[in-house]
Amino acid sequence: MDNRKKGLEDVIAVETKIAYIDGIKGILAYRGINVADLMDYSYEEVSHLLLKGYLPDESELSDYITTLRNERELDSGVIDILRICNKQADAMDVLRTAVSYISQYDADYNDNSVDANTRKAVKMIAKFPTIVAAFYRIINGLEPVSPDSELGHGANFLYMLKGTRPTELEAEIMEKDLILSAEHGLNASTFASRITASTLSDIHSAIISGICTLKGPLHGGARLGAMNMLDEIGSIDNVENFVEECIIAKKRIAGFGHRVYKTYDPRARVYRNLAKELSYEDAENGWYEIAERLEDVVNREFVKKSAKIIYPNVDFYAAVAYKYLSIPAQLSTSIFALGRVAGWTSHCLEQYEDNRLIRPRAKFIWRIYDK
Ligand code: CMC
Repeated sequence: MDNRKKGLEDVIAVETKIAYIDGIKGILAYRGINVADLMDYSYEEVSHLLLKGYLPDESELSDYITTLRNERELDSGVIDILRICNKQADAMDVLRTAVSYISQYDADYNDNSVDANTRKAVKMIAKFPTIVAAFYRIINGLEPVSPDSELGHGANFLYMLKGTRPTELEAEIMEKDLILSAEHGLNASTFASRITASTLSDIHSAIISGICTLKGPLHGGARLGAMNMLDEIGSIDNVENFVEECIIAKKRIAGFGHRVYKTYDPRARVYRNLAKELSYEDAENGWYEIAERLEDVVNREFVKKSAKIIYPNVDFYAAVAYKYLSIPAQLSTSIFALGRVAGWTSHCLEQYEDNRLIRPRAKFIWRIYDK
């Protein structure tokens, strides 16, 4: 019997308690809490929610924050590795390399117990921003900036990147960015991580699988694609032509469309408002106006073409916000990973807890005349 579904569309592959998604109604909830209602929490609280299953009380949060912030620093070996990476490399490739190095020196190397994996998860959540920021500074001829334990996760990342403390609005946007990126059910990179974990390989290897999968332009790489696209369009007057050319060339528009959402992506809805807020602070750059016009034109043209709307997804308005925050495109996808590492590690812990090797089948279709 051939019950294959191309791209595994709508196939239920695992059970999870981590995220609920309703693609018809446009709902995303982390551990039962609507993502829009998590916007006033910190990334530290949300990563605790994902990893441990509940929002921490005051004393649990204080302990968790202390552990996380103590783990932000990188040892000199990692910095040495970052110094020999290709300066033109996408930060995703550098992150992958750094995690591979870090895994080999972890105090719990070879320990696949729940406690050891939870410790490794927290360390990765803590260190990812330091890796990306340090790489950025090194390729720009600057020394890495040590983490500031007084700052929250998002603010500290911007501080380590730029060397100066971010404004309140910048810090708030980065914190929300990380929360919105933190988890999304069985997306391709989380599935890749879970497949690796299901072989009982170690959690660092599983997270590297996630990084490699997130990088692709159909997944988190769309954030880079959307940033480049905004540059290419450049002005609101070029939007119509750009969309027309994409349709003629059958080219995908980065940051639009989604496998699960048949309506507006709830993360894009939150993001759109954040990007709008940033546009009020920066009247010179018209990124938000270009984005809004692009959304309108894409809607209009795709309804004309195929009677269906292609909505923006999380990557589109994230790219707009990154333009305002002057985030270099080379880092854009890796910033997605700084948030998503909480989701990946939570899924790995869930997979280890009730494991069965993930091993589907392929339908053999070779015929003698294929030779
Ligand atoms: N631009 C132009 N056409 C599109 C787009 C797009 N961005 N997305 C879907 N379509 C069209 C596609 O051409 C196809 O048309 P037709 O039926 O006439 O051939 C139809 O919509 C269905 O496309 P599909 O490829 O079967 O849909 P999918 O569920 O396999 O694709 C997707 C989902 C995200 C890969 C796709 O929408 C896409 O390529 N988007 C651009 C890349 C992107 O933004 N990715 C980020 C996804 S969300 C965040 C994340 O996970 O990172």
